[in-house]
Amino acid sequence: MQNFKLNRQIAHLAVLQRIELCGPNLKRFRKLLGRYFFSVFLSKYFINLDLISKNYFNLMYKEFLLLKNYINERDKVLSIGSGIGGLELIINQKLNNHITFIEKNYVSKKIKYGWDKKNKEAYNNLHLLEKFLLCNGFKKENFDLFDFDKKELPHTKFDVIISLYSLDYHYEFNLYKDYLYKVMSPKSVLIFDTIRPEFFYSVFKKVEIIKQDLDTVHKSKRIACRGLRD
Ligand SMILES: C[S@@+](CC[C@H](N)C(=O)[O-])C[C@H]1O[C@@H](n2cnc3c(N)ncnc32)[C@H](O)[C@@H]1O
Repeated sequence: MQNFKLNRQIAHLAVLQRIELCGPNLKRFRKLLGRYFFSVFLSKYFINLDLISKNYFNLMYKEFLLLKNYINERDKVLSIGSGIGGLELIINQKLNNHITFIEKNYVSKKIKYGWDKKNKEAYNNLHLLEKFLLCNGFKKENFDLFDFDKKELPHTKFDVIISLYSLDYHYEFNLYKDYLYKVMSPKSVLIFDTIRPEFFYSVFKKVEIIKQDLDTVHKSKRIACRGLRD
């Protein structure tokens, strides 16, 4: 597989979730015409589908290479805020994992790429997420989708929990803290991006920095954490 199959609606979501997918011209228009126009119009109709598909695949493959040492074949994986799920699709193809998704079923009209204190913003549609997974060969029996806002989250232990540019990047870690106590065992690993890695030494017994994004506005670090403290 070299790229993903996606239609315009799915590509639109991918661009909202990963702004680096839209080229410099579109970014310039975003500054000129504003966030609303960008979110509902430019990022949907002014994109090249083949290019988005190839670039999204390459981006997610790079993420996979970074994470693969933390995931064993058949580990139970939970993804919080997966976006349209390109990374999770690659993980399933390479390592045959069952993957549980928790996402929001809502697309904000004005995308804000920053801290969202009340967690009101979201950029996903669960129907399109499922469509993307199925049409790229992810078997239905190998994944489950949960809508965060329906408050019926799975209560099983996961080996690996991934939340790229979502938990503690867009919204506070505390939103999921109690839930994580229910679904993490002492051996589970949680991988996420944050601008305050030092804080997590008081939350977990082991914190490892595995990536730094220092040339972006947010200057986040990706951390792999194990062992929630009592
Ligand atoms: C910047 S995108 C990152 C998507 C994907 N992880 C990636 O790296 O491409 C953040 C995602 O978090 C989702 N999100 C926002 N609030 C959430 C919540 N409370 N629980 C789960 N996902 C959430 C958004 O809908 C969006 O898809």
